[in-house]
Amino acid sequence: MRKKITIVGAGNVGATAAHWIITKELADVVLIDVIEGVPQGKALDLLEACPVEGIDVRIVGTNDYKETQDSDIVVVTAGIARKPGMSRSDLIKTNTGIVKEVCQKVAKTSPKAILIIVSNPLDAMVYVAHRVTGFPRERILGMAGVLDSARFRAFIAMELGVSVEDIQGFVLGGHGDSMVPLPRYATVSGIPLPQLLSADRIKALVDRARNGGAEIVNLLKTGSAYYAPSASIIQMVESILKDKRRILPCAAYCDKEYGVGGYFIGVPVVLGSRGMEKVIEIDLASEERKLLDASVGQVKELCKEVEQILSS
Ligand code: NAI
Ligand code: 2OP
Repeated sequence: MRKKITIVGAGNVGATAAHWIITKELADVVLIDVIEGVPQGKALDLLEACPVEGIDVRIVGTNDYKETQDSDIVVVTAGIARKPGMSRSDLIKTNTGIVKEVCQKVAKTSPKAILIIVSNPLDAMVYVAHRVTGFPRERILGMAGVLDSARFRAFIAMELGVSVEDIQGFVLGGHGDSMVPLPRYATVSGIPLPQLLSADRIKALVDRARNGGAEIVNLLKTGSAYYAPSASIIQMVESILKDKRRILPCAAYCDKEYGVGGYFIGVPVVLGSRGMEKVIEIDLASEERKLLDASVGQVKELCKEVEQILSS
């Protein structure tokens, strides 16, 4: 039997993720949203593309969680984007409410699912999902590190004028501006990046990756990135569904690992059929450690706000 993936939020990221999933014939897809007609319309449109592309999957759009029953993976992209004039606290408040409601429903209808949270602020929303579902840490992940790393890798390839296929690299920590770059672990066909680029150029690429989300928002003006985010979701989904056991940077619950003390933070993990199968701990130089501690500090502040919202 084919696996079943529910995507909550049929907006830009959710619908594009559905497109990638069916294109790769990874699973049947249920697209769910609060807006009536939108998930149904997008699912039907995708379904009508299947004969053209020779794709054999089932895809439905709905506003009813019954359709999502017993999903193997649930990807949560529901939420609002920060609008001009909206404070960060207002965004956290609104999206905490949305992610809480969504995750409570998902926990009832798909109690064995692996959750991949995407809604922002990511590091806080994955914490909300954990708090309200009580799912074990293996089955709750946040998507951000694959995206932040992909941006860094794309910029390295552009700078060197070489194939993206040869660029390896990853980041730790929170999403976006609080990410912790690890250029000394980045390689180009096995050659350490610092042997190919000056420290100044590496710093410029790191800064661009750190602000990668804002760069796209400034260009689009009416929304945020969705092609690279949804491709990043699919890399995680594929590793889980195919039990590939890839090592990917994801927001994962860390307690003793990296001395985090019970929060979700971007770290390299082994992703397999059981979800987050292992956190990989790597040696950090003192500057990297300081950046990670600062990033963890920011995540803790976000989670404090979430706790206040959840208890109010
Ligand atoms: P979008 O606005 O296009 O789509 C969001 C969808 O969520 C809308 O269709 C909306 O109707 C739906 N929604 C709102 N409340 C809902 C509820 N209670 N139940 C079900 N659906 C609900 O936004 P987009 O571009 O798809 O982004 C989605 C989220 O992902 C945002 O919070 C964005 O900031 C975040 N994001 C995170 C990234 C990451 O790296 N973690 C990367 C890109 C986006
Ligand atoms: C991004 O990094 C907005 O989190 C989103 O593109």
